[in-house]
Amino acid sequence: MPNEIKLKDLFVGDIDGEVESTREDFEQLFYTKNSKFNHIINSDRFIISGRKGTGKTILSQYIFKQMNKRKGVVCKIFTRHDFKLQQLIDLQHRSLQRDEINHFWKWLFLIQLGKSILEIDRINKWIPFTSEYKLKQFYSEKYPENLFRLNEYDTSKTQNTTLKGQKKLMRDTIGASIEDTHQTNKSFIKTEYYELISLLEKMVLNCMKKNKDSVLIYDDLDELEDRIGEDSSYYKVLISMLETIKTINLEIKKTGRQNSKIIVVLRSDIIDDLHKYSSNSNKLTTGSKTDLYWISKNYNKPEEHPLMEMLLIKIKNSVPAYKGLDNSSLYKRLFPRKIENKEVIDYLLNYSFGRPRDIIRFLTLVMESFPNERSFHPSFFKECAQDYSKWFYNELENEISISKDKDFLLDSLRLINDLKKRTFDIDMIEDFFLKNQQNYANITDLKLSLKKLYKYGVIGNSWIHRRRPNKNVYHYAWGYRDDADNEPNFSQSFVVHYGLRKFFSL
Ligand SMILES: Nc1ncnc2c1ncn2[C@@H]1O[C@H](COP(=O)(O)OP(=O)(O)O)[C@@H](O)[C@H]1O
Ligand SMILES: [Mg+2]
Repeated sequence: MPNEIKLKDLFVGDIDGEVESTREDFEQLFYTKNSKFNHIINSDRFIISGRKGTGKTILSQYIFKQMNKRKGVVCKIFTRHDFKLQQLIDLQHRSLQRDEINHFWKWLFLIQLGKSILEIDRINKWIPFTSEYKLKQFYSEKYPENLFRLNEYDTSKTQNTTLKGQKKLMRDTIGASIEDTHQTNKSFIKTEYYELISLLEKMVLNCMKKNKDSVLIYDDLDELEDRIGEDSSYYKVLISMLETIKTINLEIKKTGRQNSKIIVVLRSDIIDDLHKYSSNSNKLTTGSKTDLYWISKNYNKPEEHPLMEMLLIKIKNSVPAYKGLDNSSLYKRLFPRKIENKEVIDYLLNYSFGRPRDIIRFLTLVMESFPNERSFHPSFFKECAQDYSKWFYNELENEISISKDKDFLLDSLRLINDLKKRTFDIDMIEDFFLKNQQNYANITDLKLSLKKLYKYGVIGNSWIHRRRPNKNVYHYAWGYRDDADNEPNFSQSFVVHYGLRKFFSL
């Protein structure tokens, strides 16, 4: 009986897309109504973008599942570990030079395209003179067996070691096997990889022409930085990667392959930063992106908001007793009462950055604290708000931590914390800042700091929309929403985000 279902029986999602995608029923729980899969697969787009926690990884995993079901198609997902490893193998301890980055990306993508094609080829690679056979020969000469196999190195063994240790371990292993094979192989292994690019490209494209499709997805490249040699810039490396993917995708298209492409997953804040380093990057990314953005204004009923629909799909498909219910009945059953006069979905939107991960986290906290209850009562959210706020802050800190402005941003966050005001205006914060400047050494420009905080959603603008005798009606603008201005208005008041107030004790 549905009446007996308790909160602990519900599944609303995991905060980590990689974890959720290991569930057997993950495809049934995936929300497709926003058509993101078609948007990227049936177009020339090649970038999955979105803020942290918007579902980039889980979309990649969904593409992975769907594409691998198609006949003659192979799909693979790579992370930065694959990049590092290839770098270690091909550069053999020397660091990547700035002017070779384009070549190296091209090499990396072609090597992995070729490998994936050979994996789905069952027969031709064994028949001499076929393109597949030639490609296979190429690999076995360039990478003698034992070296090649390292590509599937066992991460579980190195999980507990530090990153540095892990790198050294990989180096030692690879270094050793390079020595082992030195005597037996004298041809390709000594040739620099860039001398072989055009040969490899020809061979890979020849194979693709023969009905082999391959989709490669690169996720989790956010922390490449320290891998690329000391003086070179992370952003230049990323721009070079995007340029290379674009040209390879064009070459693939010329072969007539409909189901093949290289896709890269990039956080939108990183894409925004790229534009500072290259005049070309805007052109490169606009029109090439599938952007994951969940904040919709086109909903009349709370159960019609995309984020709520996403949650309800998971609940319906993971709780058999709820399967037959329509969204409206299920919403009323689970969220029967408003919170602070708002529908639950609107309350959750206020306390989040409008990302699936935030909302899933808040609901999960409630479910864990009230496992035997049957619906989400307003008081439950209030009781979990403190824990949620702490998590929300940590998630933000984490998001910021890969930015090159990290110290500046952390000081800026601390400034808001120390000011201890839910609302303030520019004079107020300026005054406070000037008096305590020594505590925020990394803030050189207060307005810039406020701009950044606005962009991330830590603070928003507010203004009186309608004056009323007993209570004015306020409107808000948040930089992470696409209906707001990109920059804050310094003549208006600022407000601190609801989700952070508890953490800042406001
Ligand atoms: N289309 C979707 N369908 C179902 N759940 C989703 C969808 N998009 C995001 N989610 C939920 O959001 C969570 C976080 O997504 P994740 O892929 O880890 O984000 P990102 O990689 O952008 O940081 C997922 O584990 C999942 O529960
Ligand atoms: Mg991810």
